[in-house]
Amino acid sequence: MKFNFPVGALEQIQTPFYYYDMEILNSTLSTIQQEAGQYGFKVHYAVKANANDRILKTICDAGFGADCVSGNEVKKAIETGFNASGIVFAGVGKADWEINLGLDNDIACFNVESIPELEIIDELAGLKGKIAKVALRINPNVNANTHHYITTGLEENKFGINQWDLDNVVYVLNSLKNVELEGIHFHIGSQITDLLSFKDLCIRVNELQKWFISRHICPKVVNVGGGLGIDYEQPDSKSIPDFKSFFKLFDEFLELQPDQELHFELGRSVVAQCGALLTKVLYVKNGVNTKFAIVDAGMSDLIRPALYQAYHKIENLSSDKEEEKYDVVGPICESSDCFGKAVDLPHTSRGDLIAIRSTGAYGEIMANRYNLRELPIAYYSDEL
Ligand code: LLP
Repeated sequence: MKFNFPVGALEQIQTPFYYYDMEILNSTLSTIQQEAGQYGFKVHYAVKANANDRILKTICDAGFGADCVSGNEVKKAIETGFNASGIVFAGVGKADWEINLGLDNDIACFNVESIPELEIIDELAGLKGKIAKVALRINPNVNANTHHYITTGLEENKFGINQWDLDNVVYVLNSLKNVELEGIHFHIGSQITDLLSFKDLCIRVNELQKWFISRHICPKVVNVGGGLGIDYEQPDSKSIPDFKSFFKLFDEFLELQPDQELHFELGRSVVAQCGALLTKVLYVKNGVNTKFAIVDAGMSDLIRPALYQAYHKIENLSSDKEEEKYDVVGPICESSDCFGKAVDLPHTSRGDLIAIRSTGAYGEIMANRYNLRELPIAYYSDEL
């Protein structure tokens, strides 16, 4: 499905703003539910990717669970209508109030990343007379071959419990009275485009499952996290993300025990392509090698290019003149406030409407108020 820009309507709106194509979101959601559902797999949406009210409600209504990484995300998921039994809570540094919030709401599971965290959850659950369900987040030491800032499954990363520490963790777990092992959890990184990395993960999970079973432990849930990448170069690509091959791979290579459930935590692949950041050109000026198109959106609205040197396709929706090269930059007082260098765009002038594509994930949610700018607002295709 191709992103639909109602240019006439969008041109009337004060820029910058995020624009969400709800048809794309809905079609992505139904593809995921269909492809995962046929194997009985359950998908939790990684709220961190985009917690915009309408987006979250649409995902909730489509029957997804919620993968949260802060107390406020848990709160938001509950307010949105996600069932507590479909809420999991991950993160290396859960504060006591956040753990208590999870306990008070009887969420499905805490994904636990260390022995001290396990002990605190046990203590806080004990004070409430509850048994907390926990999944051990195990660092599988699998290379996701992605940007080093978003690789998480290597031993050198801060995430998860390393395999050499598992004996200790299971020993402690068995000694605690107020926690119960619900599952094992993995996440190797984000924006993974080589599906073979997920095959490596399956192989590692199978080995670990054997380790648990040899100790007469059979976790009810295996949660393999998220990470499925999208096509930033061709946002309208029909073949990527390839949900069909992704879920099929897990069905083929992951050996589940009878009655074990397989869970996923997808973020980017769910929401990235339904969103675009819309901005207008304020000024065009000459640079040494290219022209600068100075737009009214900045790195405060979309930080991915500045933070990860991330590529986002940039389109001029107002011009179809001959192409020239532009550095598309924002108004913020930082040289890194640049959305793309030497971008081929049709001849661009003041007032042209520019779309920065594939920004539905980790776009609006990572916006900030640097330079005391306003936070970007959002519009939706079905409301214009
Ligand atoms: N589960 C866990 C434990 C995670 O840490 C993450 C993402 C996900 C699931 C969802 O991964 P996804 O399906 O979205 O790849 N801000 C960065 C991405 C950070 C991802 C952090 N963890 C970016 O803009 O690229």
